Amino acid sequence: MSFAWAKEYEPKSAFTKWVDEKLPLPRLVYNAVGAGYPVPRNLNYMWNFGVLAGFFLVVQIVTGVVLAMHYAANTQVAFGTVEHIMRNVDWGWALRYAHANGASFFFIVIYMHIFRGLFYSSYKAPREMIWLLGVVIFLLMMATAFMGYVLPWGQMSFWGAQVITGLFEAIPLVGTTIKTWLLGGFAPDNAALNRFFSLHFLLPFVIAGVVILHIWALHIPGSSNPTGVEVKKESDTVPFHPYYTAKDGFGLGMILIFFALFVFFLPNMLGHADNYIEANPLSTPALIVPEWYFYPFYAILRAFTADLTIPFTGIVLIQAKLLGVIAMFGSILLWFFLPWLDKSPVRSGHYRPLFNKFFWFGLMPCMAALFYLGGAPAEEPYVILSQIATAYYFLHFLVILPIISQIEVPKPLPFSITEAVLGSDDTPGGTDGGGDNPGAVVKPLPGSDPDAAPQPAE
Ligand code: HEM
Repeated sequence: MSFAWAKEYEPKSAFTKWVDEKLPLPRLVYNAVGAGYPVPRNLNYMWNFGVLAGFFLVVQIVTGVVLAMHYAANTQVAFGTVEHIMRNVDWGWALRYAHANGASFFFIVIYMHIFRGLFYSSYKAPREMIWLLGVVIFLLMMATAFMGYVLPWGQMSFWGAQVITGLFEAIPLVGTTIKTWLLGGFAPDNAALNRFFSLHFLLPFVIAGVVILHIWALHIPGSSNPTGVEVKKESDTVPFHPYYTAKDGFGLGMILIFFALFVFFLPNMLGHADNYIEANPLSTPALIVPEWYFYPFYAILRAFTADLTIPFTGIVLIQAKLLGVIAMFGSILLWFFLPWLDKSPVRSGHYRPLFNKFFWFGLMPCMAALFYLGGAPAEEPYVILSQIATAYYFLHFLVILPIISQIEVPKPLPFSITEAVLGSDDTPGGTDGGGDNPGAVVKPLPGSDPDAAPQPAE
């Protein structure tokens, strides 16, 4: 679907006309990211991160495919082939550093993209499907990144694989069998390295497929915007091209500066020094930590230090390790339910005073703490802090958010995007643009009856 006023693609030459009749690919591009796709005129820079995520997915696939031409997934030589890439292959060091730092940048932009979604409640109707597909992408990204980190066969690769596959052992009765089946052995070895390489190569293409569905689902309602008020008429939108191609181009230029800074000047800053030591199953590192982008979930995993028992009997219901595993997976899986946990009729955090406070003074400090604590040693005071942050995390999404979405009194919304931008809206047009904010209170338009109480948008 697109808005009634979307421009129609008109082939200019005989050749483009011929292509349009046989395979209307230029038409598809024109309607997806060209002048044929009207987009809210008020998108801020937080709406740049989707395109940036797409860019880093491409960086990872291109650099990864070339790295794979020189890498060998065999425990005898894997570490050496990575060093060979770094020292002997022309521009091999640049490819590898771009791939390793590209993973970090991919996660940085994805976290910004997700936090944008959380603040502006982009997960709400009619965009639930976009969000759900996004969560699937995030899970796939985590699996891909985890398996990629094992490939250089350094100390952290080996021990990271050992810890993460060891989590499956927490499953009662079948846990050890599952772990052995996943690894193809009793510990990470050649079978595991081979299958991780195979899947690490495959999954980015699966991610690309889900991204296509994500964008397809986005094009049905169109983008939301910082007011959360839906598009009502033509003056609320501008064509994607040239307005957002220019804005996304600027954002891309900015992030490329930082990316280049890391690749060329700080290539190992985000990595772990121990991964320059070849994997040694006989020597456990003092502190086994994953890559920084897994820290919040690692902190949640380690926050559970006591078994769940029946009081006064000592009978263990759930072991601490299993509790940690359930909480770690649960902390992401609960995002699937967000569209239904948050019942507020208003989307944007700017118009939700209570939500706004809990977002900036509750969730954000909690996430910052989890990011820090996941990389800290498993000792006091970090353990207790992880436990507090974990408790708040679940409380926020499962209790606080549903309650505030029911009780808070949102600020009145602007009548339209045009009014939010220009301060008034005297442009003609109906509400044939898309959905609305059922139940939300809308500010009266300047010039309308001042005594009239704010009315629901419907
Ligand atoms: C490879 C990963 C991803 C790519 C390439 C991608 C791409 C995009 C693009 C291009 C847009 C439109 C521009 C924008 O709103 O920024 C978008 C929108 C959106 N994405 Fe993603 N995305 C990815 C992952 C995710 C994840 C992990 C989530 C959430 C868990 C997510 C949730 C959303 C939502 C809710 C929207 C609609 C936002 C709105 O209009 O308010 N995406 N995505």
